Formats: sequence, structure tokens, C-alpha cells
Amino acid sequence: MLPLEDDPGDILRKAMNGRRFTADHLAHGSGVPAHRISAWIRGEPCDATREECDAIAHILDLKPSAFADAVARRWSPHSIVHPHIDTHVQAPHPSNGYVYFLDSCKRAILVDPAGIAEPIFRVLADKAYHLQYILVTHKHADHCDAVAEIAHAFPDARIVMHPLDAHALGPLEASVLRVRDGDTIPVGDETVIRALHTPGHTDGSTSYLLQSTLFSGDTLFAGSVGGAYGELSTYDDILHSIEGRLFTLPEETIVMPGHGPPTTIAEERIHNPFFPHHL
Ligand SMILES: [Fe+2]
Repeated sequence: MLPLEDDPGDILRKAMNGRRFTADHLAHGSGVPAHRISAWIRGEPCDATREECDAIAHILDLKPSAFADAVARRWSPHSIVHPHIDTHVQAPHPSNGYVYFLDSCKRAILVDPAGIAEPIFRVLADKAYHLQYILVTHKHADHCDAVAEIAHAFPDARIVMHPLDAHALGPLEASVLRVRDGDTIPVGDETVIRALHTPGHTDGSTSYLLQSTLFSGDTLFAGSVGGAYGELSTYDDILHSIEGRLFTLPEETIVMPGHGPPTTIAEERIHNPFFPHHL
């Protein structure tokens, strides 16, 4: 079993914040004592029974079976080893950074460079591919605070980001290739990267589709979703972004998230507790 990004307490906290439920509200509606709910949100082991899971899921509009699986730690996605992607650590951040190597045209695409850049430089130096784009999914430091260092070393690489989040790059904002929902950018040959605006975690959060791989940033995780921290966008927006933009992608699409293990659209439609209306 691969460890998931979010435990049951994280799932509860995000759903309660999104629905504006306090522990007392949820206790009143579900019959589960508030002190137990509060303990789970603080990170204490969640020992909810199946009946309690069902009652909580009903109130918070979660998928009962998937929430019960999360509590019992019964599910994680199948292990995926992507043949074209390097996944590197971004210490001191816990975020995932990726490099997609396109063999056909010897181009490299970097996603969300953050933290100490040395491992990124090493990965790029190992293969003599041309770094064409630096894709940034959103403005949080654990996804973009190494962009300046990388861009300085690779001045030909274009930084790609949604305009609503690009201010996070400071002076580099002026050089950003601004993408909006549905925009495509070419990569060598006939390959394109498609930008999907998926607001909710931040207003400019963007997922990028390259061939049959989706880089979902902090919008969609295996078995969870990102927190709703937008100034203009909301919890409902992040759910709509996923249901309307990501769950309509082919089921075999591989999802490489900003935190936690890779997954697929098919697995998330079935197992993600935030989407009760998908089988
Ligand atoms: Fe984030």
C-alpha cells in the first residue's frame, strides 16, 4: 500500500472547511461525538465505525464507501512507474517535482521546480535533452520557489503559468507565457501541452495534460483534493474543476499530483471520497 497524501482527518477537515461545518455542527447532524471528530482532525487515529463513516459522509456529501476505505486504510492506487518521467524530491518541501523527457524530440519539460535545485540540475544534466518549458501549476512556494534559479541557468526555457498566479514569481512574471483554460503549447514534433484551468486550491491553479499524463498540482491527489485557499475561488470550485475538467479526461490518463503517489482518472472516479456521484 502506497502512503496517501491525506489521512482521514485531513479529508474531514477539508470537507468540513469547505461546507463550513464545525465539529459541533457535524456531531449534531451525524450523531458522532464532537470530541472524537475534533481528535481526528488534530491527527489522532480515526476509529470511526462504518455506520459513523456513512453518517459523516452523508452530511458532508462525501462518498461513503470511499471515506470508509480511507478510514480503514484499505485503498491506495496501483503502483505506477512512468517510463518518461523523473520524480525528484524538493527538500525542504514535501512536494513532488517532475521532469518529462520526450524521447522523440529530445525535449524536457520541468514541472513545479521548488526547494533545493541541485537534484533538478542533476536530473537535467543526466540526459542531454533541451529544457523547453517550466510548467508551474500554482503560486505556492513549494511548487515554484526554484523557478528563478532554473530559469537563470536555462534562459531558453519558457516559464508557463496562469496569469492569476504569476505574480508569485516576482520580476519573472513579465517573462511568463500566460496560459488560460484550453490553451495549447507546442513541444517539438506534433506534441502539445494542454492547459486546464482548475481553480479552487488557488485562483490560477492549472493542470497540464501532456500526451496521456496529467500534472494536477494541488488540485487532485490520490484519494483527496487540495485545500481551498483561493481568494476568488472556493471549495465548490475545486470540486467542479475536477469533475468538469479532469474527470472528463480518458480513464487511463495518469495523474501526477503535487503531493503523494501517482494515480489514474479511472481510480479517482471510483475511490476519491470527495466525489459521491461517480461510480
Ligand atoms: Fe499548494
